[in-house]
Amino acid sequence: MNSSRFEKKRGCVRPPHFDILWLPRAAIRSVEGDPSDCILVVGVSRPKIALTVFVVMLLSMFFTFHVIYDSALSTLHNTHHQLDKQSPSLLLLSRKLYPTAVKRLPQAIIMGVRKCGTRALLEMLHLHPKVQKAAGEVHFFDRDENYNKGLEWYRMQMPHSYFGQMTIEKSPSYFVTPEVPERIRAMNASIKLLLIVREPVTRAISDYTQLRANAATSSPTTLPTASPKSFEQLVLHPNGSVNEGYRPLAISAYHHYLHRWLEVFPREQILIVNGDMLIEDPVPQLQKIEQFLGLEPKIGNHNFYFNETKGFFCWRNETSNRCLRETKGRKHPRVAPHVVSKLRGYFVEHNQKFYELIGEDLGWPED
Ligand SMILES: *[C@@H]1O[C@H](CO)[C@@H](O)[C@H](O)[C@H]1NC(C)=O
Ligand SMILES: *[C@@H]1O[C@H](CO)[C@@H](O)[C@H](O)[C@H]1NC(C)=O
Ligand SMILES: *[C@@H]1O[C@H](CO)[C@@H](O)[C@H](O)[C@H]1NC(C)=O
Ligand SMILES: *[C@@H]1O[C@H](CO)[C@@H](O)[C@H](O)[C@H]1NC(C)=O
Repeated sequence: MNSSRFEKKRGCVRPPHFDILWLPRAAIRSVEGDPSDCILVVGVSRPKIALTVFVVMLLSMFFTFHVIYDSALSTLHNTHHQLDKQSPSLLLLSRKLYPTAVKRLPQAIIMGVRKCGTRALLEMLHLHPKVQKAAGEVHFFDRDENYNKGLEWYRMQMPHSYFGQMTIEKSPSYFVTPEVPERIRAMNASIKLLLIVREPVTRAISDYTQLRANAATSSPTTLPTASPKSFEQLVLHPNGSVNEGYRPLAISAYHHYLHRWLEVFPREQILIVNGDMLIEDPVPQLQKIEQFLGLEPKIGNHNFYFNETKGFFCWRNETSNRCLRETKGRKHPRVAPHVVSKLRGYFVEHNQKFYELIGEDLGWPED
């Protein structure tokens, strides 16, 4: 910065209080030239000014980088699911660089059966740190008004999850709705499906109990004198034969519905969960499910305790305890033993067909 000798020699002008120097070209050319041929050099000689300039430069670099980073991030997020199919490596990169939680389509679905413990199953699976669950029943594939909103709507109903976590949703009516298997296959042909079943007569009684409870709460204004029909009146005709058309019985003939799923999905993609065993002794069932879903074994006996008052298992993780909700554990009406055994007899044939489809004998009682 000491250039006074050039000023004097070449007659270049230096404004007194600025750090701007006029240098002769010669200073860089190292050849004698026209003395009026001066060039402008901007320099900083004072430490305070130098520091200020340095800080301003750093700040502007920081903000520029920030703007670029933010816009890149938002672009990646916007194109996130579109990228899913086209460019998995770019997606992976974006997930590694920015490990944010985003909403993802489910990789596993609990497809049914109603009253077999679908809620309990989902809650128990949620004990696993790699599992995220949809909050309610989404009913995307079984209700046309939802299905017509498209996959993007469906994805928005899902919880946030991190890369490597699994999103699971349950809607028990998927199992009995004819359009559903094909629609799920169209979304993801390699999705994993969980079907939880219970002994068919127990399930039918539970279904009846819920329908009656719903009817009682949803229509308190309808004639209170008309006493609801008993289970027996609904499942048996006056002549004593089984009323096959009664929906809680029809749904318990699982093979009718599973048949449709197996026309669309290979058997290995559907895990049959024994709901009666899940309630009695959850851990071995959950360990099977972890394996099926490709999850590390994490759920164990430490997650469960038996509540004597309720007669149900409750489960816990580091932060909270949960039991089956009161309404889920509601008491079943007493059903006369002869009705139960009549129904069990009726289901023998249906159960046999179901066992054949799944390749496993669940040993349900025959009388
Ligand atoms: C489809 O489901 C399988 C099994 O869960 C999963 O591994 C895969 O990532 C899913 N594909 C898409 C596109 O979500
Ligand atoms: C019993 O009654 C139902 C309906 O009333 C009828 O469909 C069925 O055929 C009858 N069964 C016998 C064995 O009579
Ligand atoms: C067991 O269930 C009863 C009845 O719902 C409840 O009051 C009690 O707090 C529960 N006990 C434990 C240890 O969870
Ligand atoms: C524990 O379970 C509750 C309720 O299911 C859930 O909200 C919470 O995130 C879970 N905590 C951990 C650490 O998994």
